[in-house]
Amino acid sequence: MNDLSNTPLAPAPAPVINRADYRPPAWLVPEIALDFALSLDATRVKSTLKVERNAAADGSATLRLNGDGLVAQEVLVDGQAHNDWRMEGGDLLIDLPGDAHEISVETVINPAANTQLSGLYASNGMLCTQCEAEGFRRIAFFPDRPDVLSVYSVRMAGDKSAFPVLLSNGNPVAAGEAADGTHLAEWHDPWPKPSYLFALVAGDLVATRDQFVTRSGRTVDLAIYVRAGDEARTGHAMRSLIASMKWDEEVYGREYDLDLFNIVAVADFNAGAMENKGLNIFNTRYILADPETATDADYDAIEGVVAHEYFHNWSGNRVTCRDWFQLSLKEGFTVLRDQQFSADMGSAPVKRIEDVRILRAAQFPEDSGPLAHPIRPDSYQEISNFYTATVYNKGAEVIRMMTVLAGLDRFRKGTDLYFERHDGEAATCEDFVKAIEDGAGLDLAQFRRWYAQAGTPRVDVSLVHEGETATLTLRQTVPPTPGQPEKLPMVIPLRTALFDRATGKHRGEELLVLTEAEQSWAFDGFAQAPVLSINRGFSAPVAIRSPSSNEDLVFLAEHDDDPFARYEAMQQLVVQHLVAAVEGQLSDAERDAGRRAIGDAIAAVLADPALDDLMRGELLILPGESYLAEQIPAVDPSRVHDEREALKGWLGTTLGAAWRDLHDRCSAVPYSLSAEARGARKLKTLALVFLAAADAGEAARRAKAQYDAADNMTDRQGALMVLCGLETPERATALADFHDRFAGNMLVIDKWFSLQAGSLHPHAIDHVKALAEHADFTLTNPNRVRALYITFAANAGAFHAADGEGYKLLADLILQLDPINGNVAARCVPPLGRWRKVEPGRAKLMREQLERIAAVPDLSRDVREQVTRSLE
Ligand code: PHE
Ligand code: ZN
Repeated sequence: MNDLSNTPLAPAPAPVINRADYRPPAWLVPEIALDFALSLDATRVKSTLKVERNAAADGSATLRLNGDGLVAQEVLVDGQAHNDWRMEGGDLLIDLPGDAHEISVETVINPAANTQLSGLYASNGMLCTQCEAEGFRRIAFFPDRPDVLSVYSVRMAGDKSAFPVLLSNGNPVAAGEAADGTHLAEWHDPWPKPSYLFALVAGDLVATRDQFVTRSGRTVDLAIYVRAGDEARTGHAMRSLIASMKWDEEVYGREYDLDLFNIVAVADFNAGAMENKGLNIFNTRYILADPETATDADYDAIEGVVAHEYFHNWSGNRVTCRDWFQLSLKEGFTVLRDQQFSADMGSAPVKRIEDVRILRAAQFPEDSGPLAHPIRPDSYQEISNFYTATVYNKGAEVIRMMTVLAGLDRFRKGTDLYFERHDGEAATCEDFVKAIEDGAGLDLAQFRRWYAQAGTPRVDVSLVHEGETATLTLRQTVPPTPGQPEKLPMVIPLRTALFDRATGKHRGEELLVLTEAEQSWAFDGFAQAPVLSINRGFSAPVAIRSPSSNEDLVFLAEHDDDPFARYEAMQQLVVQHLVAAVEGQLSDAERDAGRRAIGDAIAAVLADPALDDLMRGELLILPGESYLAEQIPAVDPSRVHDEREALKGWLGTTLGAAWRDLHDRCSAVPYSLSAEARGARKLKTLALVFLAAADAGEAARRAKAQYDAADNMTDRQGALMVLCGLETPERATALADFHDRFAGNMLVIDKWFSLQAGSLHPHAIDHVKALAEHADFTLTNPNRVRALYITFAANAGAFHAADGEGYKLLADLILQLDPINGNVAARCVPPLGRWRKVEPGRAKLMREQLERIAAVPDLSRDVREQVTRSLE
């Protein structure tokens, strides 16, 4: 019985990295030269680093160069072959005698085998890089941390026919050709940058070009590189880029700082896009658009992401992050900037509503679940898991509150000071807060808790009217989150107005800043109890619990002059009704009364001549299932789904004539990108959605007609979406037509997958299983995986099948995908982690799948961390 020697060792758990353990780098690398001999499956990389001991750190003689899967072929120190280097894990360690040395290391990497899409990888015959957060260490040995800033010189040589275009950061400084069919290019980036901003692209690409003249009169050459055949679909991205460059000069005083700005679009990409200095790399879905293949939502997303990446040139690149715990320093701020930009380009109220809807659908559930973390996390195992809605979207909300507290002009003084103080530095969230404090003249001492405490604060409201006085009492609670059982009160700025019932008007908005656990405000001169409009514009990312009556909500939905508050009143009217319905608290009479109140409010919105159609569309969209489910403990997701569908059906029937008129009216509006035409398209499909819940036959006929008449993707996708949810013969015909029509267009075929995976069809889960076997499905393209599985996991009706089939399907995918792409696999874990929120039967089934994943020995660090946290 001495089998002990054969017991396999449990894999060492990945170390936990703590924010509190930050130490400045022992060695700096002021310059690096990279020399690439390019090939799809064996690229030779020679890196030469000038290293200097960091006087500001406790001097270690050992230089640590991070590596991930790299094998050093040769290590030179000051030109001499050096034999004292050693490996520790993937890292290369060298003991150095002096204060400054030159280190050269050569490695060979295989981009074609890199399915993780981190580091240098191949996509459709082209080579490209993704280095954030820790991908550079898969290319070259380097202190791969954002506080080591270097000036990069890059030389690359490769076959001219395979790689006619050779790009890197900064400016091209040399090019040449050799007799053997290879050519070379040299690039130099004058701006010191961290390794995560390095980029290289080599491939057969065509450029669309334009120019931008900066406010100081410099001409910047702009280029968007895509595969041949796609160049006709780059116009919207280019216009968005130019608009962003101008906007950042006007609104934030930020001018571009190189003579050229390149964008490359790539089909295989883990995220949306990447802000590499002077060479942004984009997922094709955020570049390519024309009316036939891209929806209005796609156009908006392109505008927003192009702007986001461009804005990073200042908020991210010129001022970067000291360490990855500070990620929200660049992401929260840059999301706020892109939101402000999009608001200025289109309808600000509609943009605000959309942003809040995303926050509630994605970030609120994260903040109330096992993966909750502050916008500045305290620890992580795999940083890729922290590119979250919390760091990005809540991060933006936190900075937006500073704009509410300071006003935009003073906030701008704060950002000016921030850029002035920290240009060229790797900064912290604290640096940002301090600069806003000093520049805008705010005291943010208590406000800083927004960076430290996780969880969505909840504000309970009571409004008592006595005599002529209305007393408003607000009580805040921040729920416990993992590792944070106790919370302190937050600073919660609430834009508030009290409406006079008689006049339908208020006396001016006030900013109430809640800082205590409980606070009261008295308002005099109200003969009648006023109607409360609070958190207008969604001035704070909190959940308001207000016992508003249906009458008050209907009043606000009609009278509120704040468009967000109007939307919110409509939402609240439906949320209160559906939550009560799901919880079984409604008598038949109450159900009827609730439905009638909602129906009347919707009829009023449909008839209101003062509304534009884009805004009308927002007011008509019912709250989503995930947001509804959030309001109900131990929820049965199928009850939420059924009640919401039942309400839709009732509204479809009761307001049938109005929906038909709306569909007719909007179908007559010709295609253009004007707000009017976009509004009409939004309403057209919305009308179908309500009709489909009431009369499938008629909806199918109308949807088929809309599909056949469509001269744009918004109408076509909308019609197909409705057909996909119906058991009707038109469904299969339209799906087949769509697939034929767009065969070969990867982005549109993604839509074909998502429409089926997200459909209301009772057999959606079987459709997903069949689609996973479809010839067009592949695990190596992240867009395709997301189109099928992330969409499916968000389709509550299908994913939460009572027998647990949906959970098993997702777990199967995670296990299959993990060895191929751990990063994308880990993004599929959170839907299973919501188990604590659902009723015990499903909770058990979800946990079982998490446990099944956890039992697999060789998980990626990404999936391991997410699964472990989800089970705790
Ligand atoms: N930094 C990118 C952005 O937000 C996102 C990203 C992160 C892309 C990690 C790739 C990898 O703009
Ligand atoms: Zn970003």
